[in-house]
Amino acid sequence: MSMSRLSFFFSFFLLVISAVHAEDPYLYFTWNVSYGTASPLGIPQQVILINGQYPGPNINSTTNNNIVLNLFNNLDEPFLMTWNGVQQRKNAWQDGVPGTNCPIPPGQNFTYHFQVKDQIGSFFYFPSLRMHRTAGGFGGLRINSRLLIPVPFADPADDYTVLIYDWFTKGHTTLARFLDRGRSLGRPAGILINGKSGKDSNGNDEEPLFTMDSGKTYRYRICNVGIKTSLNFRVQNHKMKLVEMDGSHTQQNVYDSLDVHVGQCVSVLITADQEPGDYYMAATTRFTKYILTGTGIIRYTGSNKPPSPAIPDAPVGWAWSFNQWRSFHWNLTASAARPNPQGSYHYGSINITRTIKLVNSGGVVDGKRRFALNGVSHTDPETPLKLLEYFGIADKEFTYDVIKDDPPAPDSPITVQPSVIKAEFRTYIEIILENPERSIQSYHLDGYSFFPLGMGAGKWTTESRKTYNLLDTVSRHVIQVYPKSWTAIALTFDNAGMWNLRSNIWERQYLGQQLYVSVVSPARSLRDEYNIPTNALLCGSVVNLPLPPPYTI
Ligand SMILES: *[C@@H]1O[C@H](CO)[C@@H](O)[C@H](O)[C@H]1NC(C)=O
Ligand SMILES: *[C@@H]1O[C@H](CO)[C@@H](O)[C@H](O)[C@H]1NC(C)=O
Ligand SMILES: *[C@@H]1O[C@H](CO)[C@@H](O)[C@H](O)[C@H]1NC(C)=O
Ligand SMILES: *[C@@H]1O[C@H](CO)[C@@H](O)[C@H](O)[C@H]1NC(C)=O
Ligand SMILES: *[C@@H]1O[C@H](CO)[C@@H](O)[C@H](O)[C@H]1NC(C)=O
Repeated sequence: MSMSRLSFFFSFFLLVISAVHAEDPYLYFTWNVSYGTASPLGIPQQVILINGQYPGPNINSTTNNNIVLNLFNNLDEPFLMTWNGVQQRKNAWQDGVPGTNCPIPPGQNFTYHFQVKDQIGSFFYFPSLRMHRTAGGFGGLRINSRLLIPVPFADPADDYTVLIYDWFTKGHTTLARFLDRGRSLGRPAGILINGKSGKDSNGNDEEPLFTMDSGKTYRYRICNVGIKTSLNFRVQNHKMKLVEMDGSHTQQNVYDSLDVHVGQCVSVLITADQEPGDYYMAATTRFTKYILTGTGIIRYTGSNKPPSPAIPDAPVGWAWSFNQWRSFHWNLTASAARPNPQGSYHYGSINITRTIKLVNSGGVVDGKRRFALNGVSHTDPETPLKLLEYFGIADKEFTYDVIKDDPPAPDSPITVQPSVIKAEFRTYIEIILENPERSIQSYHLDGYSFFPLGMGAGKWTTESRKTYNLLDTVSRHVIQVYPKSWTAIALTFDNAGMWNLRSNIWERQYLGQQLYVSVVSPARSLRDEYNIPTNALLCGSVVNLPLPPPYTI
């Protein structure tokens, strides 16, 4: 062996060793959450700021980075932040939802400590309590691939986060009061892109949000961080090449516009291949009787040519959207967070051990509007479910499995109580989300990425399985269910913890259209789940309880 071959071999060997032994890098953040004022629709209103910013700062991380984020709550209300799509492997303690964490009291802080383990892609964070997210407090969270892992497209010239969302001008407290009193939120006041509507109070275009150099290609990470409205996103005269969706690399199809449902993120590549000038990005409401559009400008560097006022219309109807969903495919050969192909996990050949069918409904309970899954409208007990379970007092405070795997008869009354289903550790479960209502639904599951197997009109039957994509559906953590339709998903419940399955339509989530899935590792082993962190906030019934024996290897 020649000397250079030997040294190559040797350094490769060292690389492997260090990859095993070096601790993954840490990223530290200190966040001050406070109220402030912004006027995204021309009228000053109270917003939630993070370190003075609305929307909040982007978190830029790389696969396996450890994130240590000390969050100071300077609001006058309890607060929690959740990391939408970050799987929190073995670590539901950091999920930041009312079922896993005690709220951070006003004037206090909590340090989130989590690893973005084995993930890549585009995500966002948002405040999970009450109606806080209607006031802001959200921002982008990206997980870059490690240098050694190939990404299935050339490095873009820049990487932009585009938060698109419906926006209300009434404060979050007022909106919560509406819901508490049985009113609906009504329609949003406007659609925003990164905190702006696109027009100032005189109707003139606002300053460009992004710039591109002619000839170069840029990555845009578009997330719908809104609370109820699906949005169609497009850029005048420019094609979008889809490359990633909720943490999975996709086959790189080209689109004129994309429907992004509440809670979803997509990454597209856009090449500055048009005449230099300004171009509108537009986000338009879908599946609504009214049409609202928010705009923003992309400027070619050095240009002073204003955008054409003609913005192409958004598509109409849900069949278009359904067909677009069917055109999305996972790139099976691309690497994800590890060098092995994304499609090496053959989800289509795993036997389904259980089928859970969840049907959403709405109704009035004790004079109040509620939403439910299989007849149960979830409420959070004062003590987080995860803590009740960990401290061994779950059975005193709630009942597991109050809903069945099959929905009750359509006219059954709704009950209001905590809804927690048990999933056996490491089993592969199919979940049918059936929507008998005329509105579109969007669901998210914490702790996991799942396979959306199929969608169809009407009711799901076992025959519907014949239409499943068992090869290359895009693994993700948010999925839409079209009006009077069903969506089937499947996943292996291999992440121990207490995980929220919720409607992303926030008034529905607030009024009970959610549940938790308890996944317990019988081994009580550190291989499956971390111990409660030493800084965990305690509240409610567990405050004075002795700590249970810790998990061990
Ligand atoms: C956090 O923000 C509040 C409100 O703007 C301010 O009063 C406080 O000094 C800030 N704290 C820190 C540590 O920056
Ligand atoms: C994000 O992090 C990556 C990797 O450390 C770095 O190359 C990139 O420049 C960062 N991007 C921004 C916008 O900070
Ligand atoms: C609050 O912040 C301090 C540092 O200012 C830190 O030592 C402490 O651990 C934080 N509290 C929690 C509960 O994380
Ligand atoms: C999938 O990823 C591979 C590997 O990076 C890449 O070569 C290929 O072009 C991608 N395929 C599609 C259809 O995007
Ligand atoms: C799945 O179930 C079928 C029929 O019961 C059985 O023949 C097959 O071995 C199972 N496959 C796996 C991977 O368990």
